[in-house]
Amino acid sequence: MTSTNATGTHGAVLEESVPTTDTALVELRDAGKSYGNIRALHGIDLKVYSGKVTCVLGDNGAGKSTLIKIVSGLHQHTEGEFLVQGETVRFSTPREALDKGIATVYQDLATVPLMPVWRNFFLGSELTKGPWPVRRLDIEKMKKTADEELRNMGIVLDDLEQPIGTLSGGQRQCVAIARAVHFGARVLILDEPTAALGVKQSGVVLKYIAAARDRGLGVIFITHNPHHAYMVGDHFSVLRLGTMELSAERSRITLEELTNHMAGGAELAALKHELSQVRGVDVEELPEEADLQVGAPQPN
Ligand SMILES: Nc1ncnc2c1ncn2[C@@H]1O[C@H](COP(=O)(O)OP(=O)(O)OP(=O)(O)O)[C@@H](O)[C@H]1O
Ligand SMILES: [Mg+2]
Repeated sequence: MTSTNATGTHGAVLEESVPTTDTALVELRDAGKSYGNIRALHGIDLKVYSGKVTCVLGDNGAGKSTLIKIVSGLHQHTEGEFLVQGETVRFSTPREALDKGIATVYQDLATVPLMPVWRNFFLGSELTKGPWPVRRLDIEKMKKTADEELRNMGIVLDDLEQPIGTLSGGQRQCVAIARAVHFGARVLILDEPTAALGVKQSGVVLKYIAAARDRGLGVIFITHNPHHAYMVGDHFSVLRLGTMELSAERSRITLEELTNHMAGGAELAALKHELSQVRGVDVEELPEEADLQVGAPQPN
């Protein structure tokens, strides 16, 4: 990958923000969504590029799910513009998004736990063979293809006949990622894929997010966890109360700054102040309000 060293010459930071590929796969321009009187999201600018991971972070209720529902075709935006490869779109169904190569892996994966791994891999898109009246499932081909695709992504499972329900949560996420890649996704949306996972399994999922990125997909990675985001992210967008509080290229933000943003900035400082008046609570480790300003956009 080509990356400009941000610590180099004066103009380096500006160069860094210029994408390597010209048109964004997905772009939101000043987009928003209201549910009746509730304005869940507004003023959102987001770009997703091929071979890059765009992380969307934010606390509960910040609007992360609303954002991906727009991109995945589940809901329609009520403000601004939504473009796919430079073309204005408005999806009525997730099928339309999928036809444009936008695949979403939801946290509660749509799998049938008792069915074998290979069967779940092809769920809803089964391969068949033979002429129409006697058409039947092409089991051999499905097994072989699932096996190949999983291996291509570096996922090695002992037995594709085992029910998918017996895999770990992390492995199931990985199968879903490999499946999206196989069915030609160009944009992969992952809704908190590591939220319910331990450290080791999260690592495995992060590895396949990187693998999908290396195969040229544009990845939207939704997470609460700045550490996970920073391990694979190229761009970070932090949502707060329905607006985009921060949008920064990797070269412009450190993990510490990102963590402080996620920690709730001023709210944490206020909490520290309150807690300091309670006996027996050690607030030494909590940041000062001044420390929490570091992630603010840099002037110049
Ligand atoms: N269908 C809906 N009707 C009305 N309000 C909604 C609807 N969906 C979401 N909202 C509101 O929009 C806001 C953003 O919700 P959203 O689910 O997008 O947040 P989130 O960042 O995904 O949170 P979480 O981390 O808890 O999943 C919330 O205030 C929520 O109450
Ligand atoms: Mg959500």
